[in-house]
Amino acid sequence: MRAATRAERLLEVAHRSRSRRIEEVLCSGGAAVTPYSSVRRRSSTELRGATAWRLSPSIAVRDLPDAVRAKALDAGAPEWLASLPALVAALADEWHLEVGDAFPDPTEAYVVAVTRADGTPAVLKLLVPRRSDAARYEIAVLRLAGGVSCARLLAADEARGALLLERLGPAMSTLALPQLERLPILCDLAAAIWRPASGQRSSASPTAGLPTGAEKAEWLSGYIRRKWDLLGRPCSRAAVDQALAAAESRRAAHDPARAVLNHGDVHQWNALRAGDGFKLVDPDGVWAEPEYDLGVLMREDPVELMAGDPWARAHWLAARTGTDPRAIWEWGVAERVSTGLALTAIGLQPVAADMLAAADAIAGD
Ligand SMILES: Nc1ncnc2c1ncn2[C@@H]1O[C@H](COP(=O)(O)OP(=O)(O)O)[C@@H](O)[C@H]1O
Ligand SMILES: [Mg+2]
Repeated sequence: MRAATRAERLLEVAHRSRSRRIEEVLCSGGAAVTPYSSVRRRSSTELRGATAWRLSPSIAVRDLPDAVRAKALDAGAPEWLASLPALVAALADEWHLEVGDAFPDPTEAYVVAVTRADGTPAVLKLLVPRRSDAARYEIAVLRLAGGVSCARLLAADEARGALLLERLGPAMSTLALPQLERLPILCDLAAAIWRPASGQRSSASPTAGLPTGAEKAEWLSGYIRRKWDLLGRPCSRAAVDQALAAAESRRAAHDPARAVLNHGDVHQWNALRAGDGFKLVDPDGVWAEPEYDLGVLMREDPVELMAGDPWARAHWLAARTGTDPRAIWEWGVAERVSTGLALTAIGLQPVAADMLAAADAIAGD
C-alpha cells in the first residue's frame, strides 16, 4: 500500500517533469521517502531569510521534494542532502539572497524562490550532483542564450551545481492550452535559441563543451537497443529498426557548419510564463541541426499526432522555421521510441503506450 502510494506520487511528479532523466530516480526503488502530502509545508516566516537556515539547518531538507531526495540517494550523493542547508545558506550569503518557499515539483534539483538584495525575485536551483555534466551543460546553454527565450541566468557556480535564475511564472502545462496553441509557442521558443557556434564570442570554446548532434544520435541508438530488451520489447521490432535507422541517418548527416545551439528538451512542462509569453527552463544542450529540437516536438502529443496525418506536423514545423521536414521526421522517430521506452520504464501511462503505439503505427506495424 505504502509502495503504491509512493509510486503514484512519483508518477504524478514525473508527469509534471517529463524529463527522460527522471527514470533513474523512479527506478531507484530503495530510497526511503515519505509521501509528499505528509511533509508539513513551512510558513513563509519559517522559510524566510538565511538566518533561519543557519539556525535550523535540518529544516531545509524537510522541504525537499521526495523525488529529489530519492534522486540524490540513487545518485550516491547522500552527503549532498546533508550539506544542502549549509549550501543554501552559503549561496544566500554570497549572492545576497533572502530565501523563500521551495518549489514542490522539481525532480533533479532543489529549486527555491529567493529575493535578491535589490528586491528582485529570483530562483535558486541546486542540481543533485550526478556523474553526467548536466549542471555544466545547463549553465552553458543559459549563458549562451543570454535570457532570450530562456530564463536569464543571474549567477552560477558550476562546481556546486548552483544556478540563480530570473523568477518566471507557472508552467504552460498548468494552463490547459490546446495542442494547436502550444505547438507554435514551443516552436518559436526553440527557434529563438538557435545560434551557430561560429557566432559565439568565446573562440576558445565556441561549443561550450556541449554534445554534438552526432553524439546525441549515438546515445539515442544505444539507449533504444538497451532498453527495448530490458523492458520486454514493449514496441514492435519494426519501430525499433526504424528508430535506429533514423538515428543513424541523423548521425551521418551531422554537419558542424549547420549545427546550432539546441535547447534539447522543449515541452510544456519546461515552458514557464514570462510576462504575456513564455520562457524555457531546464535545457539539456546539444550542438545539432535545428531539426533536433523540432524532432522533440514531433515526439510529444502522440495522440494528436496520430489523429491526422503525422507528416503534416513535420511539414508545418519545417515551413514555420525554414528547415528540412525529413530531418525533423527522423529525429522525431528516434526520440519517440527512446522517450516511449523511458516513460515505459517508469510506468508513466498512458503516455508511454501512446508514444510507442504511434511509433508502431508509423513503422507500419
Ligand atoms: N526560473 C524559474 N522560475 C520559476 N519557477 C521555476 C524556475 N525554474 C524552475 N522553476 C520551478 O521548478 C520546477 C522544476 O524546474 P526544472 O528546472 O524543470 O527542474 P527539473 O530538472 O527537476 O525538471 C519548475 O517546474 C518550476 O515549478
Ligand atoms: Mg524540467
